[in-house]
Amino acid sequence: MMRQFNAPVVFNQAVSQGWKLLAFLWPQDLAPPIPGQFFTFNPQGLQAGNAGLLRRPLAFAFYGRGLAFALYQIRGKATQALAAFAEGSSIDVIGPLGNSFPRPSAGEQALLAGGGIGIGPLLYLHSTFRDFKASEGATLAASPKASRLFLGFRSASQIPSFILAAERWEAQNRSVEGTGWYSEPYRQPVLAGLSDLQHSLDQALIATDDGSRGFKGTVVEALLQHPSRNVAGEAGVGIGAEAGAGAGPGVRGEAGAGAETAAARKRLYACGPAPMLSALDDLALHRGIPAHLSAEQWMACGVGACQGCVLPARAGGYLRACADGPIFPQGAILWKS
Ligand SMILES: Cc1cc2nc3c(=O)[nH]c(=O)nc-3n(C[C@H](O)[C@H](O)[C@H](O)COP(=O)(O)OP(=O)(O)OC[C@H]3O[C@@H](n4cnc5c(N)ncnc54)[C@H](O)[C@@H]3O)c2cc1C
Ligand code: FES
Repeated sequence: MMRQFNAPVVFNQAVSQGWKLLAFLWPQDLAPPIPGQFFTFNPQGLQAGNAGLLRRPLAFAFYGRGLAFALYQIRGKATQALAAFAEGSSIDVIGPLGNSFPRPSAGEQALLAGGGIGIGPLLYLHSTFRDFKASEGATLAASPKASRLFLGFRSASQIPSFILAAERWEAQNRSVEGTGWYSEPYRQPVLAGLSDLQHSLDQALIATDDGSRGFKGTVVEALLQHPSRNVAGEAGVGIGAEAGAGAGPGVRGEAGAGAETAAARKRLYACGPAPMLSALDDLALHRGIPAHLSAEQWMACGVGACQGCVLPARAGGYLRACADGPIFPQGAILWKS
């Protein structure tokens, strides 16, 4: 059940060029957000001069020990105001909103693909696979060893460093230690969240558009570059042709029956710009992989009332990104490529 509340901000620091990480206190009596869900914040309360700005949506990038985290890129007025917002003040939040990523079935390998502002929800999903394993005795398929996280950035300068952000934050605030928002019980949960985020990021296969780090190209190309199955017949890291199968990676529909068997044991989760989702929707269809795609559609009310976020449905009519999504199964939406 969602709710509107004032959330004290305990962390709001730069993590890379043009990107910040926000952490705020989550109400104890409200169900914690789960991966794929989002919240909206009111930019009007952040800065004089924002009158008339609509609420803005951000996805949860992590939740732990009573703190919710969001990773955001500074773009226009609302995110600029959020970036300038002081730790210790409160933001007006409505959440948790939207549906969530379904879990992989036992024996499935989860492929997670995040591009640009879509990386936060995939980091969160990845971190819960670890917790899931520890707390619920999940199979290897739901553990990070078998799940694969692919993250795409414009260039290396945009890749977050949560560890450096933690160190800077500690250095800045040592003089106020023991008081207000930089005190226990907040400090340790912030540091634990940053460490969890870094752990997931460190396991990710990174793609950059300019090749300044990792794979040169898009996340979709990175997924295709990697075979769906290695020469020993084990599940590979991507959805390209099988290693040694002869068909070149990136050639849709040429993966052969063996790859389809391997593909059937994979499940794809993605969030990113519409062209990326469009390409992955097509790929998932041709490879027979179940896919869950999270839309970054513009929103107004965020709660299903205004129709401001509709997407064309393949079955006809429209679906609301905020209330029917933001996550849609393969084939549900006519994505704009
Ligand atoms: C469900 C959902 C989850 C989101 N999660 C995140 C997140 O975790 N991190 C993050 O950085 N951003 C996220 N966004 C996008 C974020 O809401 C926008 O970047 C933000 O609202 C921009 O507001 P602004 O006033 O700063 O910029 P504006 O002046 O409103 O926009 C600046 C530019 O940003 C682009 N833009 C704005 N809104 C969107 C959008 N919804 N999708 C794509 N491009 C947009 C446009 O190119 C626009 O010209 C999410 C959006 C949705 C719908
Ligand atoms: S933003 Fe109003 S219905 Fe989705």
